Amino acid sequence: MQHIFSSAGGLTVVPYPGSDPRLLLTGGGTETAYEYRDRGGYRPVGSVAALADEVERSGLRGRGGAGFPFAVKVAGVRGGSRAGAGAPAGWTETVVVANGEEGEPASFKDRWLLRHRPHLVLDGLRLAAALVGSRRGYVYLSDPEAARCIGAALEELGGALPDGPEIAVVQVDPGYVAGEETAAVQAIDGGPAKPTDKPPRPFEAGVAGLPTLVSNVETLANLPFLDRWGADTYRAAGTALSPGTFLATVTAAGHPPTLYELPHGLPFADLLALHGVAESELRGALIGGYFTGLLDRTVADLNLDHETLRRAGAGLGCGAIALITAECPVAVAAGVLNYFDRENAGQCGSCFNGTAAMAAAATALAEGLAGGEDLHRLRRWATVLRGRGACGTLDAACNTAASLLERFPREVAAHLDNQCPDCAGGPALDHAPYRVATEVVL
Ligand SMILES: Cc1cc2nc3c(=O)[nH]c(=O)nc-3n(C[C@H](O)[C@H](O)[C@H](O)COP(=O)(O)O)c2cc1C
Ligand code: SF4
Repeated sequence: MQHIFSSAGGLTVVPYPGSDPRLLLTGGGTETAYEYRDRGGYRPVGSVAALADEVERSGLRGRGGAGFPFAVKVAGVRGGSRAGAGAPAGWTETVVVANGEEGEPASFKDRWLLRHRPHLVLDGLRLAAALVGSRRGYVYLSDPEAARCIGAALEELGGALPDGPEIAVVQVDPGYVAGEETAAVQAIDGGPAKPTDKPPRPFEAGVAGLPTLVSNVETLANLPFLDRWGADTYRAAGTALSPGTFLATVTAAGHPPTLYELPHGLPFADLLALHGVAESELRGALIGGYFTGLLDRTVADLNLDHETLRRAGAGLGCGAIALITAECPVAVAAGVLNYFDRENAGQCGSCFNGTAAMAAAATALAEGLAGGEDLHRLRRWATVLRGRGACGTLDAACNTAASLLERFPREVAAHLDNQCPDCAGGPALDHAPYRVATEVVL
């Protein structure tokens, strides 16, 4: 029985050596309001125009998956509130949402922020509310411990953010699709945490039909730094197109899961060295979580920024980096596809049926039971099903299947002949690979 690595033990927290962390604190425990203020937090909101200018110049990109420019989203929400986009003429009300659901199994950075730096997140939400002129904010999450820490932080503040919007915490059951932005909006409005059709996107008509800024918790956590130090200092780390630092949840067989704060653009080889994994051990990686599929060992030549990874046909996504070392990539892909089969919201026929079919074909391949016909079908599905679901889950499954077939032909051929040395005895496919369990952090 092959064991796909699933993290256990504590989560190690490591800032990039030689740099002052912007988001991480290494002492453990939950930062109090007093400690946060002592570090310069909750500054009075000054000129919104000046803050908007710094945000624009900073090039801050979203940390929830797509790397979308934050300033563009802010402009969209402000435009939506003025121009109407479905709202009554002259309407100015907007909503802000801190998305901390973190459905991605290989990621633990949002829950870490919510549990350990709740005031940093709330301060970021407060600044985002100022940027879009909002008086209503939500912290959207599923982790009970994160909900407890945010609730306690709000109590410390007497229930209200300084110069900030009214805040409510909305807790849902965890799920891969629950963190998708339209699922978040629907859940906050009292419905199921499942994606809805787009358009409209939340910036046009979100919570209660109002223009809504849905931003990832880590994206928001960058705003207090930007507010205090400005865009030039923010850009002192990172690359021109991926400025600043990012949180990376790194998992690898035989190593404790680790949360790093890294400068964008860091060579992947440097991360391997930092994590204590020899390049010769590396077979590939899942970068950005499950969404963008598998990379082979040439990932070691890449840099960790949006532009490089996109060129390589992958993405930085939410910063989750699962190193494939001891595991067979075919078994990893089958595990991920089975996860999508279980976790899709069952709303779109092509996704419901497509993920089930791809998972079944990949499982048969992993177990040495597939033939050339199955492979041919898997390849075809990975192409024709792309773009046919309401959210990105079906695309994620297509990415997984396509990248396995494209980047691991030797391993796939070995499975067709039932000759994979790693999978003798049958692979373990019944759980999500590289899942970082919530209990490890406490
Ligand atoms: C299937 C799916 C799941 C998603 N899950 C999350 C999530 O758990 N957390 C998150 O912040 N964004 C998630 N997203 C992205 C959100 O839809 C949205 O783009 C994001 O919250 C925006 O924040 P950002 O601009 O700060 O990245 C998901 C997207 C998809 C397609
Ligand atoms: S694409 Fe899949 S996960 Fe997304 S809404 Fe449709 S059925 Fe649900």
